[in-house]
Amino acid sequence: MNVLVTGGAGFIGSHTVVELVNAGFSPVIIDNLNNSSESVLTGLKNIIGFDVPFYKADCNDFEVVKDIIVKHKIEGIIHFAAYKAVGESVEKPIKYYKNNIGSLVNILEVMQVTKVKNLVFSSSCTVYGQPDHIPVTEDTPKKKAESPYGNTKAIAEDILEDVIKSGEQMSIISLRYFNPIGAHPSAEIGELPNGVPSNLIPFVTQTAIGKRNKLVVFGSDYNTVDGSNVRDFIHVVDLAKAHVSALNLLKGKETAFYDVFNLGTGTGNSVLEIIKTFEEVNNLKLNYEIGPRRSGDVEKIYGDVEKASKILNWKTEKSLEESLKDAWTWELKLKNNNN
Ligand code: NAD
Ligand code: WQD
Repeated sequence: MNVLVTGGAGFIGSHTVVELVNAGFSPVIIDNLNNSSESVLTGLKNIIGFDVPFYKADCNDFEVVKDIIVKHKIEGIIHFAAYKAVGESVEKPIKYYKNNIGSLVNILEVMQVTKVKNLVFSSSCTVYGQPDHIPVTEDTPKKKAESPYGNTKAIAEDILEDVIKSGEQMSIISLRYFNPIGAHPSAEIGELPNGVPSNLIPFVTQTAIGKRNKLVVFGSDYNTVDGSNVRDFIHVVDLAKAHVSALNLLKGKETAFYDVFNLGTGTGNSVLEIIKTFEEVNNLKLNYEIGPRRSGDVEKIYGDVEKASKILNWKTEKSLEESLKDAWTWELKLKNNNN
């Protein structure tokens, strides 16, 4: 199957391209490189041994997306392309609604015209907000989003559900990611944060390598094992493999179909546990201090991943230790490349 990967030069998209190739799919990338770099394509080539067809294009552009789909006889789409900076979305909501909602609607319209049936959409555990019970299942009620970014994911899921309810002959899966971390074990691809990272792991690795002075732990007075927040950290390669499982499920579906899956490890780890494990597996000391809470942070969340295990026939294979080792190896590689 030829698969269009929007945002395929990004963090999760690039790792998914590798797993698609490993599984015998033929990916084609559209990315406007807004939050990624052409160097990712070299990394991909070093892993898979050939150039993946790549278009530097905006997936809000109807004609361009349509032409690529027709040219490459695309049968499935994985739609990663979106803006993802939670803080920026509060400052610039229109930018986020335009790109995240606009691009999804454009992709759906092109699918209608070109009769592409299969779509996998990148959603997020952010749709659960602070749940009343953990672990969260797919039936856990969604809560009002804490940010315009989070709201784009909630709205996108509603749009997809409505499209299938209308009888549109498409098969669609939304994947709710928890906290993807790590990098490809080859260190050819990984996360490339733009400016000062807001996510924990890039901040940890950049502090360890000396790009940042110290890590501030946002709060130690939460009702958790050690007072710091708890999250479900999943290795990006495990996450990438779930997209292959999702496409395989969609291939077998004949009629209008919509479903949603949690993608996490099923286990929660606190921020302080992450720091300790990072120090242990990489044999180093991290400069960190406890600071005040960050506004909008959820106290604790992790996913129940039974549904993905049963229906997608997928489960995580990599440990937290591997994730944190791979994240560090990637940071060292960036240093060697003067990034
Ligand atoms: P990323 O920023 O690394 O990748 C997104 C890619 O999309 C980038 O390469 C960017 O250049 C591209 N892009 C953005 N808008 C585009 C457009 N209009 N046209 C073409 N390309 C465009 O982000 P990521 O971490 O790989 O996230 C991928 C998806 O997963 C996003 O939808 C994100 O919201 C979602 N998600 C991410 C996380 C996370 O923690 N990383 C968690 C849950 C969900
Ligand atoms: C993890 C933990 C911080 C930085 C975000 C998005 C969410 C989803 C995943 C896309 C938190 C703590 C962090 C630091 C810290 N993305 N932290 N010091 O908040 O779980 O979720 O990414 O959909 O929508 O909101 O991830 O990596 O920002 O933070 O103590 O310098 O690390 O407080 O507890 P988060 P994160």
